[in-house]
Amino acid sequence: METLTVANWKMYGNRNEWRDLAEKVTTGILDINTHVVLSTPSAAFADVSVLLEGQSKVFLAAQDIHPNDEGAHTGNTSISMLKDFSGSFTLVGHSERRAEHGETGELLNSKIKQALKHEICPIFCIGESLDERKNNKTIQILDEQLEFGLNNIDISSAEAIAIAYEPVWAISSSVGSLGREPSNEELEDVFTFLKTKMVKRFGNEVGEKIKLLYGGSVKPANTQKIMTVKNISGVLVGGASLNANSFIEIAAQVAAKKA
Ligand code: PGA
Repeated sequence: METLTVANWKMYGNRNEWRDLAEKVTTGILDINTHVVLSTPSAAFADVSVLLEGQSKVFLAAQDIHPNDEGAHTGNTSISMLKDFSGSFTLVGHSERRAEHGETGELLNSKIKQALKHEICPIFCIGESLDERKNNKTIQILDEQLEFGLNNIDISSAEAIAIAYEPVWAISSSVGSLGREPSNEELEDVFTFLKTKMVKRFGNEVGEKIKLLYGGSVKPANTQKIMTVKNISGVLVGGASLNANSFIEIAAQVAAKKA
């Protein structure tokens, strides 16, 4: 199985730390059979992109993009800026963007369309809150988020898009976080639903192969267990991605997934 290990550096670090991390990760995963995506702050694009030149396993990503090509949108990053630094992925709809910036399903849909139009792979983040989980609404919420986000979207290749399931209560830094990943039974339920939904939405050929990632408190100690869940093809890592050794160890365990 082709796997993906995604780092989300959020709003952490400085030039020295970004360069150090990117260099160590790029060297550290040379013998590891997984593709790696580094979602860096936009301020790190220049430094990180230089370090990724000439290699084919580590990709640069934005943490968010604006749905328009350019314009008077203070504080935002456009797709062409990301592409200018050879970026090829972007997160869309991370729960921190949804919560802090009130991003709606409609807006996320336009960001996904913008990414696809410019051949940037959106990693579309979805996930339920703790209350929704307690009220047995997980699948309903994920279904709604997917319906909104993927409205009127057509893709012809499974590589065009990836989905990341990140329950808000499992993200280590979220308010009210339980600071733990879901049980494997909980993950099996969600990922079976996601796989079925993707096949229904995009057909067998494409839907079967769309990468389905898990994110929320991923660390070296729990990656192997998470990766035993059928239909999980990789992870999205926040806190533990800021330490090169931890992240490389996670990538190695992701790569070891049995098909
Ligand atoms: P975490 O963050 O790994 O620190 O829980 C994951 C995320 O927010 O993408």
